[in-house]
Amino acid sequence: MRQPLVAGNWKMNGTKASVESLLSELKAGFSDALNAEVAVCPSYIFLEQAAAALKGTGIALGSQNVCDQDKGAFTGEVSAPMLKEAGVKYAIVGHSERRHVYGEADALVAARFAAAKRGGLIPILCVGEKLEEREANITEKVVAAQIDAVIDLLGIEGLQGSVIAYEPVWAIGTGKTASPEQAQAVHAFIRAKLAKQDAALADSMQILYGGSMNAANAADLLSQADIDGGLIGGAALKAEDFLTICRAG
Ligand code: PGA
Repeated sequence: MRQPLVAGNWKMNGTKASVESLLSELKAGFSDALNAEVAVCPSYIFLEQAAAALKGTGIALGSQNVCDQDKGAFTGEVSAPMLKEAGVKYAIVGHSERRHVYGEADALVAARFAAAKRGGLIPILCVGEKLEEREANITEKVVAAQIDAVIDLLGIEGLQGSVIAYEPVWAIGTGKTASPEQAQAVHAFIRAKLAKQDAALADSMQILYGGSMNAANAADLLSQADIDGGLIGGAALKAEDFLTICRAG
């Protein structure tokens, strides 16, 4: 039985004050009785503030990226050991904004994934196709290549202890959600692809959906057989909406 995971990706939003109030609203509404595990991924600068506020609450902390190297001359990057020390449990890698706005290629994303694992973090590997790729009917090919970059580097066993998030790029921040059927089809494809190499791994892998998931559409998406939670952008910035999604998980 896979436990659902609902993670909030706060992206580059917030101030110390707004982060403080969002965290206290989340804490007030959070209950250990939730079926889903819950995590929030604030900007790096707010991680320690969030770690202090969330201590002992059961809400986990994630980062929005992680360096592929462990230390050294890598200006602007943050390493897995640093994140671990700050209290981080999950590290998002390969978010579409990293891939398509900042040009991170599959191989770099795979190296970041490997660094997260080396540092004791749980990588959340984001995969997903652009609109033109969906229209060209190459969604499965794109998603498979993004996953294969990790398998090529670490072997199929490298995916053990990680999470995959399917996030169609055309659905991120656009208000256009994939229909539950469209999302389920890709989730099932991913699970079947993994099962060809390791059936037990495929069965236990949490595969999250992301892309305009909100309080109104979460229950339908999360009721699909192969959707094991959500990676939530915009709706994660409103405590009540985020908690509604967590309760649906
Ligand atoms: P969105 O973002 O929920 O605002 O579409 C999801 C994501 O980018 O992870």
